[in-house]
Amino acid sequence: MNNLMNYYETHNESERLFSDKAHQLEWLTTTHFLKKYIPQNSEIFDCCAGTGHYAFWLAEQGHAVTAADLVQKHIDIMASSEKAKLLKDIFVCNSINMPNIKDNSYDVVLCMGAYYHTHSSAEREQIISECIRVLKPDGILVVAYINRNAVFLNHFKRDPDTALSDGVINTGENGVFYASDFNELDCLCEKLKLTPIANIGTSGQIYILMNEINDLNTQQFNEFFNYHLRVCQEPSIIGNSMHGLYFAKK
Ligand SMILES: C[S@@+](CC[C@H](N)C(=O)[O-])C[C@H]1O[C@@H](n2cnc3c(N)ncnc32)[C@H](O)[C@@H]1O
Repeated sequence: MNNLMNYYETHNESERLFSDKAHQLEWLTTTHFLKKYIPQNSEIFDCCAGTGHYAFWLAEQGHAVTAADLVQKHIDIMASSEKAKLLKDIFVCNSINMPNIKDNSYDVVLCMGAYYHTHSSAEREQIISECIRVLKPDGILVVAYINRNAVFLNHFKRDPDTALSDGVINTGENGVFYASDFNELDCLCEKLKLTPIANIGTSGQIYILMNEINDLNTQQFNEFFNYHLRVCQEPSIIGNSMHGLYFAKK
């Protein structure tokens, strides 16, 4: 846990999604599918909200949004935003155990952080089970995860020797991050009796193609985004996408 706190003390999470065109692809794809699968006027709990980009955006779409995060720095950034008034509540919370939240409270739970920052399968299962507990019957769970094949290839591109020897492709362990096996969310979903809705490779090949995507002009970028939307649910793309987003129904 200390490693995670130290990581976010120095990492600027507020700027990650908007730092360049390539990173915006993840934001545009994620908001596209949130819009597609979340019913209007939902009661939403964003339990790993970071600095609040998705929570604020969902509130602007007319949903009733409560935001939480493990890291006080992120809570402070959200609370000091002029958009904080759009949210129902903002508080520190560890998604592995949310005793202050009643069973069956929310139409939608976003778990977009804790899963890929947790380093044992038992704890990952506990996090997803907590999210399911606070979801209403038929509620929608949205889990963000990282694909280990994409982590390996990105590492390999930068430094083949250390990528081949560091073991991420076998264990998924990557510093403060945990990268999932291709079928992991499907298996967990089945075990916890969730009904899968969609699995999306939100960032596609952006880490391999970073320079090429950032060099696109606006029209080319829009065309590339349309291509990405067409293919981002294909298994061949999902497994190679750094970020994945899994939608399932309780
Ligand atoms: C990379 S940020 C993503 C933020 C935002 N959800 C997004 O997708 O842009 C991951 C977030 O997960 C939070 N987090 C990690 N483990 C958590 C836990 N067990 N409970 C709540 N939040 C957690 C981190 O503090 C961080 O803000």
